[in-house]
Amino acid sequence: MKVAVLPGDRIGPEVTAEALRVLEALDLPGLTLLEGDVGGIACKRHGHPLPPETLAVARAADAILFGAVGDPDCDGLERALRPEQAILGLRSAFGLFANLRPATTFPGLEGMSALRPEIAARIDLLIVRELTGDVYFGDKRIETLPDGRRRGWDMMSYAEDEVRRIAHVAFRAAQGRKRRLCSVDKANVLETSQLWRDVVIEVAAEYPDVVLEHMYVDNAAMQLVRDPGRFDVVVTGNLFGDILSDQASMCVGSIGLLASASLGERQTDYGTFGLYEPIHGSAPDIAGRGLANPMATILSAAMMLRHSFGREAEAARIEAAVAGALADGVRGGDLGGEAGTAAIGDAVLARL
Ligand code: NAD
Ligand code: IPM
Ligand code: MN
Repeated sequence: MKVAVLPGDRIGPEVTAEALRVLEALDLPGLTLLEGDVGGIACKRHGHPLPPETLAVARAADAILFGAVGDPDCDGLERALRPEQAILGLRSAFGLFANLRPATTFPGLEGMSALRPEIAARIDLLIVRELTGDVYFGDKRIETLPDGRRRGWDMMSYAEDEVRRIAHVAFRAAQGRKRRLCSVDKANVLETSQLWRDVVIEVAAEYPDVVLEHMYVDNAAMQLVRDPGRFDVVVTGNLFGDILSDQASMCVGSIGLLASASLGERQTDYGTFGLYEPIHGSAPDIAGRGLANPMATILSAAMMLRHSFGREAEAARIEAAVAGALADGVRGGDLGGEAGTAAIGDAVLARL
């Protein structure tokens, strides 16, 4: 069971270190950790945010545990060399089209939600975000028009098979939950979204036991703060899913809490190959001071054990340890508390 550990930039290594402590404490027989550079640090060391040696490490592994990439020093580089290309490149190189981003209330944490506690108390949703298409991967450029004005453009598109396969993932997820699926689009304006909606409706015929609704993304953003408890599974495109998942994190309490799994079709001897990462970024504003909340990364490691290694019991143990720490009042700065990165890791380990 090989895991490619790619810590990345800024708080990436800080939060990854705590997830590794948790994994090592489980002492799983056969779990081997490989390491690689990604992001700005890889650019500095190897001249590319996703160097061939890192891709080789990832290819040799059964799963990837990813910290975060992003370095303000690199924002002036040409796009192909920016740190963010590392995560985009991994997603597309491994066909990781299905991004699962669960957002669930943690008992005792309702008061830290950006919403009123009674509204925050009933969150139990799963965002299924398409991850290898949409405007993210379309042609893009800044061009100069004949009259000298500059114009930026990015091509948004979805092919029907891309929509169909993520819809299947979402319907199957709904079947394992409360059997409700909300497909989020902007079909009142975008043709890409109209096709999305048409295909989701076609796929729905295969899942008569799931109640499907459609919602425009602007309304979905509103409903997510009005009553997040109304959602079970949400399926949406790459860009809308990116935005709605950061928003969902603040309904729960902090972006430092939300984990993710990015899955494709590749199977290994142990389960589905996947990449696991917190939904947050490299947080340059707090990096280097031991302030980052590692819980999202620790919970991502739990998702890895579940989806890539079939280790449901250990995954549940990690999740219970995180929930226990939160229930006992362990709070990082993101949750108005004093606990630093390592202290939060200690608190989770103590409850494991
Ligand atoms: P961010 O998620 O890094 O940070 C947003 C805010 O949340 C910041 O105030 C930060 O301090 C806080 N925050 C984030 N994670 C936290 C944690 N674990 N504990 C406590 N506070 C936390 O988003 P940003 O500031 O927009 O982006 C910073 C860099 O990260 C950019 O270069 C961006 O492209 C990159 N990024 C990378 C990923 C990824 O690697 N998958 C995801 C998002 C952003
Ligand atoms: C995320 C991030 C990435 C995205 C960036 C860093 C490319 O925001 O994982 O949510 O937009 O997908
Ligand atoms: Mn994001």
